[in-house]
Amino acid sequence: MTIQWFPGHMTRAKRQIQDKLKLIDVVLELIDARVPISSRNPMIDEIVGPKPRLILLNKSDLADPAQNARWLDWFRSFGHEVLAIDANTGTGTKDISGRVKVLLKEKIDRQIAKGMKPRPSRALIVGIPNVGKSTLINRLAGRTAAITGDRPGVTKGQQWIRTGADLELLDTPGILWPKFEDPEVGFRLAATGAIKEEILHVDEVACFILRWLAAEYRDTLTERYGLSDLPAELPDIASAAEVLEQIGRKRGCLAGGGHVDYTKAAGVLLRDLRSGKLGRITLEAPII
Ligand code: G4P
Repeated sequence: MTIQWFPGHMTRAKRQIQDKLKLIDVVLELIDARVPISSRNPMIDEIVGPKPRLILLNKSDLADPAQNARWLDWFRSFGHEVLAIDANTGTGTKDISGRVKVLLKEKIDRQIAKGMKPRPSRALIVGIPNVGKSTLINRLAGRTAAITGDRPGVTKGQQWIRTGADLELLDTPGILWPKFEDPEVGFRLAATGAIKEEILHVDEVACFILRWLAAEYRDTLTERYGLSDLPAELPDIASAAEVLEQIGRKRGCLAGGGHVDYTKAAGVLLRDLRSGKLGRITLEAPII
């Protein structure tokens, strides 16, 4: 699903999330491990405010394991609690409730000190479209999910999903918008499938990605497409287009007159990237 965001939409989305924040103890901020910054909402700190937050690097199965480790360190260096997960298979998701307990320790300890039995913590999942919010809700809910609606303070229609003894989730996630102003963010999000590639020129997206792959995943690129003489760097779109042309020829993406169909060649590259055929790839590096 691709959502067109306009200032009015953004204000409404922000207000909807802020309304839900009143009901919960902790925010689970879902981002894409392949593009951890590009898949983040630029106003997330302002939207969430002082509410405790656990950052989840989802789709970590598709991202470069070495880069996952770097990104985890990077987020921790800012004092964030963060986990790498794969909501599809559940890898890492069992650690979520433990991390939430760490984040809410003071609050839970206060309840115990008052002689109260700590109630399950309540969480809201937030993230941009396609980052895996529904997949994670389904994964955490599992088969034993008990829907526990009609609680005081719950907006009509919203329900809590039990995910175990210690954690309840609001069943509707908060949908955030990505940062649109930066064209590179758009290219990365289109490459991962977070935004529909028709919004951008698919061959331009492919050329952007090829420049990154040539620099960071040179051997993978050379081997996958049998490229010869791949330059150490692709300094501009024109040099990337030459590589895309080679890929198109190798893969038989031809238009009339023996010319390469760049759109088809771009489609091959982006499909290979998204399906993991190029291996585990991260498309941005932490800025240190
Ligand atoms: P959303 O609610 O945030 O919009 O996202 P949703 O759960 O619908 O997930 C979007 C796509 O991402 C789904 O693929 C889903 O299977 C996939 N996905 C979610 N989490 C993970 C993960 O940790 N690893 C991997 N590899 N994939 C994940 P889909 O239904 O096939 O949609 P699409 O890929 O065709 O867009």
